[in-house]
Amino acid sequence: MTNETERISQAQANPVFMTAKTAICLMENADISDASAIVRGLGLEKHDPLQNMTDPDVVLGNALVVETKYRTMCSLIKASGCHVCVDLPCGYTPKALHLSKASMGFIGLDLPIVVQEIEPIIRTLTTSSDEISFHGIDATNYDSIRTALQNVTGPLCITTEGMMMYFDAHEADAVVSNIRGILELHGGLWITPDPEFILQFFYSFRSIFGKNSLAKLAASRESAQQQSDVAQLTNPLIVKPDDIIRSSKTAEDFINSHGMKVEKITLAEHIPSLNIYQQLTQEQIRRFKAAMKDCHYWIITLDEKRQQADNPKQESTPFEMSCLLENNIFKATIGGRLDSLAAPQLLTAWEKTKTAGIPVGAEIDCAKLSYITSAGIRVFLIIQKALGKDLTLTNVNPSMEKLFIQKGFTVPH
Ligand SMILES: C[S@@+](CC[C@H](N)C(=O)[O-])C[C@H]1O[C@@H](n2cnc3c(N)ncnc32)[C@H](O)[C@@H]1O
Repeated sequence: MTNETERISQAQANPVFMTAKTAICLMENADISDASAIVRGLGLEKHDPLQNMTDPDVVLGNALVVETKYRTMCSLIKASGCHVCVDLPCGYTPKALHLSKASMGFIGLDLPIVVQEIEPIIRTLTTSSDEISFHGIDATNYDSIRTALQNVTGPLCITTEGMMMYFDAHEADAVVSNIRGILELHGGLWITPDPEFILQFFYSFRSIFGKNSLAKLAASRESAQQQSDVAQLTNPLIVKPDDIIRSSKTAEDFINSHGMKVEKITLAEHIPSLNIYQQLTQEQIRRFKAAMKDCHYWIITLDEKRQQADNPKQESTPFEMSCLLENNIFKATIGGRLDSLAAPQLLTAWEKTKTAGIPVGAEIDCAKLSYITSAGIRVFLIIQKALGKDLTLTNVNPSMEKLFIQKGFTVPH
């Protein structure tokens, strides 16, 4: 199989990586340094990822949110007192370049498909190669993150921009648990705008578009959902605008249950000057700055008084797979974790089998499967769709049976 087939499998198993291409195009719109060079390096001069944002106001509103996040986060990272930023996920942003100019180390962590594209581009744009590294990981996979950081000396400033909303509750739980594990090993802090991302969108759009903001917000949400193939964009860590007090408590309790505590900093007090203001009226800027008083970024640290409820190493069995074609039936036996790193391998094996024509059936033996994420489920669904009939999942562990049935699979007994 060619590298291109593997790349396509990665893209199909993890379509969420495309949201990072949207982000870098929006950064170019906001004239953020080096964004243009990265867009060219990615071959995105025509801004294809923005094509489904047909309303220029939706692009403007998104560019405002993205520039606010990028510049505020860069400034908070530099003020954190840490010498190394671990950007989880790094996407395609120029943060590595910005922070290395400020003499900070930068470790970019993201899905392999992103890292394979961004690392060579960043290397051509900097001479500070020693301070910058990139690693392909899955944020739900503790071992992949721990291995990526094994030679790093802390304390670390871990940053998470634009990722937590794409996880379901189970995945978000694993990611928060993993970050806790990394903070225990290396020390430092975790800064994230993600819990209040809906509020940031809601207040930003309302301050610049007034009564038209809801329709423009809906168009933005639809675009993010389509690109990521994630239907909900919510989990217990995400604050909901229609129930702010209760959902904020749920989100904070969620962090506390992982033995960490939250300090919320008001966005209005930390936003540097923005280029995008040139595209806004004075009245829009005034309303925007006022609205950001109600929006917070979260600084999360270990709470020595609390114990973590779970253990990040629990689900660390590596992925294993064997496949064959028997009587024109694709038969796979899988074990360990079927996550964002492993799911493309199963998809590639399926693609390889079907070069001689679509098999008449597919059976996946899940006896040794210990953990599955939405990337794994997505690959099962791709196989099922190609077959045009039920995929047979055998020896399903009772703890996963309910999930598979909810996702529409038939689980024989
Ligand atoms: C909206 S982009 C944000 C990227 C970047 N932080 C920015 O601000 O542009 C979402 C990112 O989350 C990454 N991502 C999604 N699921 C992930 C996972 N399981 N592990 C690691 N990265 C993941 C995607 O690859 C993508 O780069």
